[in-house]
Amino acid sequence: MIIVREVAQLRQAIAERRQLGTCGAKEVHGATIQQHTVGFVPTMGYLHEGHASLMQKAREMADTVVLSIFVNPIQFGPNEDLDSYPRDEARDLEVARREGVDIVFLPTVAEMYPQPTRTKIHVSALTERLCGASRPGHFDGVTTVVAKLFNMVNPDLAFFGMKDAQQVAVLQQMVTDLNMNVTIVPCPIVREADGLALSSRNVYLSAEQREQALVLSRSLFKVREVSEDGARNTFTIHQIRQMVESTIASSPLADIDYIEILTFPGLEPLLPEQRLSDVKEDIIVALAVKFGNTRLIDNIRLQKAEVLSHV
Ligand code: PAF
Repeated sequence: MIIVREVAQLRQAIAERRQLGTCGAKEVHGATIQQHTVGFVPTMGYLHEGHASLMQKAREMADTVVLSIFVNPIQFGPNEDLDSYPRDEARDLEVARREGVDIVFLPTVAEMYPQPTRTKIHVSALTERLCGASRPGHFDGVTTVVAKLFNMVNPDLAFFGMKDAQQVAVLQQMVTDLNMNVTIVPCPIVREADGLALSSRNVYLSAEQREQALVLSRSLFKVREVSEDGARNTFTIHQIRQMVESTIASSPLADIDYIEILTFPGLEPLLPEQRLSDVKEDIIVALAVKFGNTRLIDNIRLQKAEVLSHV
């Protein structure tokens, strides 16, 4: 595994890998790709099994796997956890090695932003709801750094977890709008055995907060049950929201930031009186809830087929 900290070294290492042959033709989203493919997993480190699943998917689909670890300051607000964001480079490198990553890019802030940035990428509309509303400027920081990383790595495929479903929708929009030559591969949420979605921020939770945080997945699993139950998938969006809210409110430590039910990936609101069974698009039930100072996000995506299958 090659570890690089500078953009020039990264480009050199990738260019050398690209000169190697391909492991064979690959089926990627229905298309057959022949050339040496580069799969990219951008992260902010403190890697967990959710990140590992992205690396595994990249290993499966690409010839070369590039991992970046960079806590991107421009996606944090002034009162957010940039300084305390968990970091453990040695452990991250072990995980990367275990998952068969070829190149790890570990830039400093000065390497990524050698001069004050005067260019930002802003995706409109999709960034105005959910985390975009609670964290102003956050997605401009994400799209800007991901666009920079894409320009450095020039990947064929880039892997992102659906836990940040809004991030997936926003990046997909950016790639389409700017004709970026990369395929975004969304990967499923990875959960602990008890349902808690994996997140680097889970380490901030006390034992009691962690226990109570299980209401998040529990509330979302109830939505899944309802959507799959012919007798109950006639619930309205308002009823579904109330069900999620009352489940979360049963935890005294939970402080709800948002619970939203939107189309995916368009992130358009649904009418409260609309019945689940009448919705013609994929839906996402997304939530952000604080436990003490730790803000957790989670979501469930209901694909049209699942909602309609029992109608
Ligand atoms: O999802 C993350 O960890 C970050 O938002 C990303 C995509 C690595 C950009 O900093």
